[in-house]
Amino acid sequence: MDMRGFILFRPARNCPKNVLCRILLIGTFLLTLSFLSFNDRILFVSGWSTSKNSADNHHSKFPDFGHHNRNLQNILSYDNGQLHRQRPDQRTRKSHNKAHRLVTNWNITLTSESSQVEVPRERDKESSVAEESKRGRRLPRAIIIGVKKGGTRALLEFLRVHPDVKATGPEPHFFDKHYHKGLDWYRNLMPETLPHQMTIEKTPSYFITKEVPSRIFKMSNSTKLVLVVRDPVTRAVSDYTQMLSKHGKSKSFQSSAFLRNDTNKINTSWIVLRIGLYVKHLENWLSVFPLKQIHFVHGENLVTNPGEEMRKVQNFLGLRTFITEDHFLMNKTRGFPCIKKTLSSKRGHCLDESKGRKHPNLPETVLASLRRFYHPFNARFYRLTNINFHWT
Ligand code: A3P
Repeated sequence: MDMRGFILFRPARNCPKNVLCRILLIGTFLLTLSFLSFNDRILFVSGWSTSKNSADNHHSKFPDFGHHNRNLQNILSYDNGQLHRQRPDQRTRKSHNKAHRLVTNWNITLTSESSQVEVPRERDKESSVAEESKRGRRLPRAIIIGVKKGGTRALLEFLRVHPDVKATGPEPHFFDKHYHKGLDWYRNLMPETLPHQMTIEKTPSYFITKEVPSRIFKMSNSTKLVLVVRDPVTRAVSDYTQMLSKHGKSKSFQSSAFLRNDTNKINTSWIVLRIGLYVKHLENWLSVFPLKQIHFVHGENLVTNPGEEMRKVQNFLGLRTFITEDHFLMNKTRGFPCIKKTLSSKRGHCLDESKGRKHPNLPETVLASLRRFYHPFNARFYRLTNINFHWT
């Protein structure tokens, strides 16, 4: 048989009748099929089977480790959480889910090979340069709205330990005192952040100011709100202690708290007591925001178990859990947790002397009267929040 003629010119005409030709054709067909399916497997693992997208352009900047390794690069960068910026098309999105399941197993091999370990670092460098160019001041995505003397400063300082959080220093008081200055003024008070970081501010007086909820809602209806609450009786004493330290000797607690010095007649117009009517203020917020958009931090627990409270806060804010009990050290002299010096939090510190002051001793009759006063309001607050804070 003239093989050259057979292969080059005659297959189409003679093949159906020639047995050897049929075998060859079927064989070629099967070979092509298996090659295609192998190729598809690689593409499915990489998640980038359609190639004309930005990620492919990006790949051209990497050193060429060959086709197989390029696909491994994709897995690594997926694992590094980079893909959200490179919108995959329909097909690749499906593949991502599968690829994600494979990532853990694949990484075991990958980490043992130094050349492949270099890849994500290179990529990290590039993406961090790109991110750096987007550094700027952003409006807060979360606000600690109160309550005054609840432990708001401690909460903000603790949150600052998180690498994905940036917080203001002083209280901005934008939504209650400086609203007329406009959002640009407000934004300028914010620290510079990278796109993935969350800006947070705290102004405890927001919680008790009627107009604030709708103003925050107008800025962004997805703003996350955090409220630290503490037993309203100790909160009131703490507030009074602060007044004493700021204004020197002033009226006694009793003379402001009770009408005509009668411990049964509470002076409900005294702001120090009014702030503790949490349910009243919360009702105002709930007329604007849904309950699920407000996270309640248990003030007492923030002192005794900061790790647990911070886990819940991070979860609510959609942050990865970074701050844990390992970040705190109980200062026995002060009776409050301080932030430990760690690699991530280089500035280990306690809150300053204005936090955790010694309270004046008030007669038991005064405290009992305040507890009676707050009791029904607390009960309503527990019902509204679905949380029992166990204040006596
Ligand atoms: P006292 O000073 O009455 O003890 P705010 O920051 O909202 O003004 O709250 C101050 C309160 O935070 C303090 O009130 C203190 O009880 C509480 N606090 C919570 N954690 C703290 C911490 N780690 N260090 C100091 N004070 C803390």
